[in-house]
Amino acid sequence: MIAHMQNGEILSGKTSEYGFTEIIIDNTSPLFIGLDNTQIVWMSHTDFVNKLPDSYKIISYSSNLPVVAFQHKTKPIFGVQFHPEVTHTKSGKKILDNFISVCKLPRDWTTNYFKEEIIEKIKKVAKNKKLLILLSGGVDSMVAFELCIKAVGNDNVFAIHVDTGFMRKNESEEVLKHLEKIGYKNLKLINAKNLFLKHLKNVIEPEKKREIVGKLFVEIVHNELAQLENKDDWLLVQGTIYPDTIESGNTKNAAKIKTHHNRVKEIEEMIKQGRVIEPLKELYKDEVRKLGLGLNLSSDIINRQPFPGPGLVIRILCSNGKYPKNYNEEEKKLNTITNKFHISGRILPLKSVGVQGDFRTYSHPAVIWFDTTNKSWDTLRTASIEILNTLNTVNRVIFSIDKPKNIELKKLSLNNDTIKILQEIDNFMRLKTKDDVDIWQMPVVELPLFNAKKQYFLIRPVVSVDAMTADFYKMPFEKITNLEKELKRKFDIAGLFYDITTKPPGTIEWE
Ligand code: XMP
Repeated sequence: MIAHMQNGEILSGKTSEYGFTEIIIDNTSPLFIGLDNTQIVWMSHTDFVNKLPDSYKIISYSSNLPVVAFQHKTKPIFGVQFHPEVTHTKSGKKILDNFISVCKLPRDWTTNYFKEEIIEKIKKVAKNKKLLILLSGGVDSMVAFELCIKAVGNDNVFAIHVDTGFMRKNESEEVLKHLEKIGYKNLKLINAKNLFLKHLKNVIEPEKKREIVGKLFVEIVHNELAQLENKDDWLLVQGTIYPDTIESGNTKNAAKIKTHHNRVKEIEEMIKQGRVIEPLKELYKDEVRKLGLGLNLSSDIINRQPFPGPGLVIRILCSNGKYPKNYNEEEKKLNTITNKFHISGRILPLKSVGVQGDFRTYSHPAVIWFDTTNKSWDTLRTASIEILNTLNTVNRVIFSIDKPKNIELKKLSLNNDTIKILQEIDNFMRLKTKDDVDIWQMPVVELPLFNAKKQYFLIRPVVSVDAMTADFYKMPFEKITNLEKELKRKFDIAGLFYDITTKPPGTIEWE
């Protein structure tokens, strides 16, 4: 914004303000009224405003940034460098609340308002058409499904559940049980296990995997439509929520982080032709959950952890076993940092997806472990931030309870064995962590890393509200130790890593 104004100067480059940042505010400004002078906010961009145009004044700064927020001297125009909308910004809601007052906007953004408005919109768009929905069983598709039923009635909504073979253990059975319970009959179960595996078995690259999954879903929809009478009288319903559209690069201002399965090219075409309804596309996950409560969906469904459309496809990290070029210089930098904290670490020879500013990264994780018995989450957090800010080749930091033994990169592909073991371990971990109620989502990831024949796995428990940002969950160290021991005993694995990367710079899923 400043860049477009006269005499303003916006600079790009690394500032040390990244993540949780302490700022000083002028609480006489209408934007900050009612707040203490010192605030903790979340920053995730590294460009900064160096100089403001004459007509503007500074209303917030930090020890490293001269301008954290500004205000026009006479007009109601404000700007902030941090993210007020994320939960990490402690008073973010109050700041947005103040902004609504400045704008004199009505406060009618309520769940009931959404419900009625969405149902009306569906009725208007659907008119005399019938609706076809892919029902994964996750909260988004279930809420979209219920809204459609409320709008056009049971008989006009036809649901398909596709078992891709990459679902969680017993997932499809649970979806069927639920629909039976609510007395819904228009469901078709499609067993597409062989189809998905055939197309994905030799694919390594994450975006390629996502594209293939998206295309296969489209193919299935087209096949189903072709079998229906008057196929032009049907519309496709998707449970797309707002973050899906942002991270697929579908809004004006965001780059593509990941192609969500319901945002592939073919679906974009159908959207352009007006053949898709996405009732939840302006909502965040927490809003969808509230909406679900208002639709009387069972708490089992509403409180389920999110599960991505591509499922375990993006949680099995495949590899051709070839080592990437060496990164000795980066290893040296890593050692300089870890030595300060009585920890050790190494960069791993595989890559995962992350997000920096608004851009996708695809880089290496560093694994760290304590050299002392004195373990502390604060030390892990501080070390992790320093590693991520210093090393160019690292976009994620993971933790190992013990020094990992002899890690080797090996060939790994999607096949029945790799799927089965992940389903079992995922199921086991889900049961073992069901009382950790603060975990918002916990992907379990299968890695192409081995100690001889034994394989390494990873858990990524996160705390979040809307998936746009996330913090890692701090499980008691004793519990992690016991989990790893049990896993080794039950599944004969090499070890369990624990992801300690915030989002950003690490995304929740690894691919
Ligand atoms: P990331 O990994 O981008 O994930 O931080 C944010 C949230 O989105 C979920 N996710 C998906 N959901 N289709 C979906 O329906 C997808 O292709 C997809 N990719 C990621 C992820 O599980 C997390 O909750």
